[in-house]
Amino acid sequence: MPLRIAVQKSGRLSESSLSLLKDCGIRIQRGKNALIAPATNFDLEVLYLRDDDIPQYVADGTADCGMLGENVVAEHEVKVVSDRKLGFAGCRLSLAVPRYVDYPGVAYFQGKKIATSYPVILNEFLRKQGVSAEIHEISGSVEIAPNIGLADGICDIVSTGSTLFSNGLKEVERVMRSEAVLISRPGLPAEKRTVLDKLLFRMDAVQRASDAKYIVMNVPNAKIDAVRSILPGIKSPTVFPLAEEGWSAIHSVVEEAHFWDIIDEVRAAGAEGIVVMPIQKMVK
Ligand code: PRP
Ligand code: ZN
Repeated sequence: MPLRIAVQKSGRLSESSLSLLKDCGIRIQRGKNALIAPATNFDLEVLYLRDDDIPQYVADGTADCGMLGENVVAEHEVKVVSDRKLGFAGCRLSLAVPRYVDYPGVAYFQGKKIATSYPVILNEFLRKQGVSAEIHEISGSVEIAPNIGLADGICDIVSTGSTLFSNGLKEVERVMRSEAVLISRPGLPAEKRTVLDKLLFRMDAVQRASDAKYIVMNVPNAKIDAVRSILPGIKSPTVFPLAEEGWSAIHSVVEEAHFWDIIDEVRAAGAEGIVVMPIQKMVK
């Protein structure tokens, strides 16, 4: 039996989930609107589900693992193992109120009605804040609730903020941060665990590469030590002599987050002709 992975059928995570599998070198053969599709070159099949259904499917073993938002995992109190944060679909679950409200703090919600698809997480948050409010669970289009008089505020996922904006709402409290994660069911049989570990290994390589850049630069030999001390590298940077006497080329890998700082520093230390290249995969 292939490892069965659940992904969101359509929505914020679908495209990134499928392109992560693709970047891991996995080819999926999906018939038109098929709910399940086999990989042609990996012991895996993909099950397309509503994201809210994924925790239950994984917990009861219908799927072996799944990719979904941490917010959905937290809302469905089921027993699953969180194997990996996936670094995409970053968002927050927030409380929002109509823009005209002069918001005094979380006490504003005392005795108010809040519409949400996340009653479990919201309940816990309000309890910790010592606020008691009336929670209205609705499954979709939460953002219109205040406008139709159904609620005083909402608790929903905010990513770019454009849904809130176009509904005349503003974000006032951050309840949780979330990103995509890979979950699996506890007690996965050994042969499936092996396939999942192989998949996680590939995902690591893809993720590391997306955080890193390969840089090459020319450095006068007298400045090599100064430049080397700036570069973190995987181990140490590679240094090649150039045809031109007294010069070398240094190759290194730098993290995207520190990229511009490092470029500024190596230039100041004497590096020239700096070339930056994307990295496709980085295997440990
Ligand atoms: C969330 C939320 C909003 C939208 C916010 O839905 O319900 O509709 O994303 O994004 P924005 O801040 O970029 O406008 P989600 O994608 O989680 O869909 P779902 O509720 O159908 O799972
Ligand atoms: Zn959903």
